[in-house]
Amino acid sequence: MNSREKRIEWFEKARFGMFIHWGLYAIPARGEWVRSFEKISNEEYEKYFHEFDPVDYDPQSWARLAREAGMKYAVITTKHHDGFCLFDSKLTDYKAPNTPAGRDLIAEFVEAFRAEGLKIGFYHSLIDWHHPDYPAYGDANHPLRDNEEFKDKEHNFDHYLDYMHGQVKELLTNYGKIDIMWFDFSYDDMSGETWRASELVKRTHELQPDIIIDNRLGGDIKKEDPEIYAGDFASPEKIIPPEGVVDEKGEHVPWEACITLNNNWGYCAADNDYKSPRQVVRALVECVSKNGNMLLNVGPDARGRIPEQSRSILKEVGRWMAENGDSIYGCQGAELPKPEWGRYTRKGDRLYAHIMERGIGPVNFRKMGGKIEKARLLSDGSEKRVHRPWNAAEFEEDAFVEFSSARLPDRKDTVVELYLK
Ligand code: GLC
Repeated sequence: MNSREKRIEWFEKARFGMFIHWGLYAIPARGEWVRSFEKISNEEYEKYFHEFDPVDYDPQSWARLAREAGMKYAVITTKHHDGFCLFDSKLTDYKAPNTPAGRDLIAEFVEAFRAEGLKIGFYHSLIDWHHPDYPAYGDANHPLRDNEEFKDKEHNFDHYLDYMHGQVKELLTNYGKIDIMWFDFSYDDMSGETWRASELVKRTHELQPDIIIDNRLGGDIKKEDPEIYAGDFASPEKIIPPEGVVDEKGEHVPWEACITLNNNWGYCAADNDYKSPRQVVRALVECVSKNGNMLLNVGPDARGRIPEQSRSILKEVGRWMAENGDSIYGCQGAELPKPEWGRYTRKGDRLYAHIMERGIGPVNFRKMGGKIEKARLLSDGSEKRVHRPWNAAEFEEDAFVEFSSARLPDRKDTVVELYLK
């Protein structure tokens, strides 16, 4: 295994990825937890297995969309909590090749995304509501958690772990180079060595020496001496941590906020509560300004299509990224206080001012007086005058950038590239 610093370098430059939650739950279309929330029995859920036939599945178009949005990697659910596998596992019949889909959907995904130059991540659920050796009755989340018929049912958890470990081996053996392994998730005492996590992580690194792993096998990534399974990056969910993520010593911990576009991961037909492209751009900028990444989710439907709303948001985000990507890729926080008008990102001697609030008069750069060599609008390279107007004469420690118009050219986020002295 190579050092974390080396393995994670590309990831911290990439900053923006696509999360894809897809499986049988796209048919009931009430989110990927539907089996648990509605306590659906095995028999009842089985009908979706016999029906799953995503005739419009076109991973090339997904990959193109991701690339055009400015994303550099993608993480797809190989198996979610319902236990259904999109890949051709030799260890189960509960897989896409045995549905009307009739083939390994992950193989096609990997090929298409690689062809667009994106790195590949596999989300694999530690939890399994289909496997007979996964605890059901009395479990916190299992659809059969309070079904008395399962009360005395014997199960052998080690069998399940052999199965889960075996599937991870398949995923890391049969699809070429895999860049990210995204395990999900630990709860109560289902955590750490309960998953035989050290063994799993060692095996993962043997098979894929450059891979990076999320932090959901358990352990504490922020500890001074974290467990071997504590992960390479933190994975805050549906939230951007107020101060980024640091360890006990105050040192930077790589992190990635996973964010839904509406409120669900898996396809949810009734959920139209989508974030605006502007919110998405600003959220991404916020992540980078705090030294993190954003993994933005789409939930393809039962036909295999990414919902139209999601596509149109991503396209608009992509237009912004095409002009302003230099302020995202390879960037980090600026170690300056958050400015009143927006946020900073930085790359070497370039400081990117993400101006989101126009305010009144020249834009103020607190305590930056004498430090800025020149300023250019990132989207077209045009000059922005750095000078101290007469009415700012008394604010000597600050720098000012002239904005002639009362309105910002880009209402999502106008980026000014500052060349530092
Ligand atoms: C959660 C949920 C899940 C989703 C994931 C994404 O743990 O169980 O449905 O896949 O996180 O972060």
